[in-house]
Amino acid sequence: MDLSVNLGSRNNGDLTLPNPVMIASGTFGYDGYGRGIADVGALASLGAVLPKTFTRHPREGNPEPRWFPASFREGMAAGETTLLNSIGLTNPGIEAAMSDLAPEWAEMDANMVMSMSGESAEQWEEMAGFTRGVEGFVAIELNLSCPNVGDGAMFSHHPQLTEAAVAAVRSQTELPVWAKLSPNVPDITEIAHAAVGAGADALTISNTIPALHVDIDTGRATLGSGYGGLSGPALRPVAMALVHKTAQTVDVPIIGVGGIFNGRHAVEYLMAGASAVQVGSANLTDLNAPFRILSELEDLLAQWEISSLKEIIGKAEFP
Ligand SMILES: Cc1cc2nc3c(=O)[nH]c(=O)nc-3n(C[C@H](O)[C@H](O)[C@H](O)COP(=O)(O)O)c2cc1C
Repeated sequence: MDLSVNLGSRNNGDLTLPNPVMIASGTFGYDGYGRGIADVGALASLGAVLPKTFTRHPREGNPEPRWFPASFREGMAAGETTLLNSIGLTNPGIEAAMSDLAPEWAEMDANMVMSMSGESAEQWEEMAGFTRGVEGFVAIELNLSCPNVGDGAMFSHHPQLTEAAVAAVRSQTELPVWAKLSPNVPDITEIAHAAVGAGADALTISNTIPALHVDIDTGRATLGSGYGGLSGPALRPVAMALVHKTAQTVDVPIIGVGGIFNGRHAVEYLMAGASAVQVGSANLTDLNAPFRILSELEDLLAQWEISSLKEIIGKAEFP
């Protein structure tokens, strides 16, 4: 069975991943950078691993509490379908990432994909510049769900801002560039076209949905920052529709992400038009989740005697 998928052939060559299952940014281990992963060698059996997003400067992140439910694992076990977080991009900054973390990734056999987020076109370009000549990652994912410092508008809410960010990074790197989009836009295809027009090799759909939980006993927002981002099962059908809609109109591969907890969910995304998937919240309920999901996907394809992903990608029929 050939599960390989090419997510970087558009601009400068070839990025073939061994299979389509990756760990989504922010959910790699307990801290987003692999804490708690016992068998680092096993990560090479996944398609790719995305550490948490880096910003230009180090960030402490948002005030506690940062999770609702406080434990995603216990929440899911109790039947919760909506998971909220407001981590606030806690990270050591891109310069520390390039000098301290990238060398560690270079020692690993896994395909690491660096995620970054800028606050202006100039900053995106500067950050991408820091990655030049650094080894340890095979692609760059742009977390476009962040505000432009000039007017506070979210990059992935506006075609022009999306285009400027992707073009700025594209100008600095030979690596494949994946643009990660936000779900809460009236027409995601407009944003997708802007990203592809500026040179994105693939689109990751989607990030979390802005969300609020109120604790009626205290009369306060539960999360320390007020609003958070919704992930988990409730996000799945939303992101799935966005993947399907976008797949009809762009010719680059789409990476589906949102609410994938088992192999069947991964197949749903592939049938909806994704070429690959990322597993997010499921990691926070079980660090073994992406390995289990990959193996369940393989079992399903074997059961259906499917020998290549091409046989199912985008094959969901519509009435
Ligand atoms: C705790 C947490 C932290 C996250 N941090 C990031 C991040 O740093 N960068 C990013 O692009 N996405 C981040 N995300 C979003 C995920 O990568 C993913 O897009 C989203 O959670 C939907 O997938 P899921 O339903 O499988 O979790 C984070 C999600 C969670 C739950």
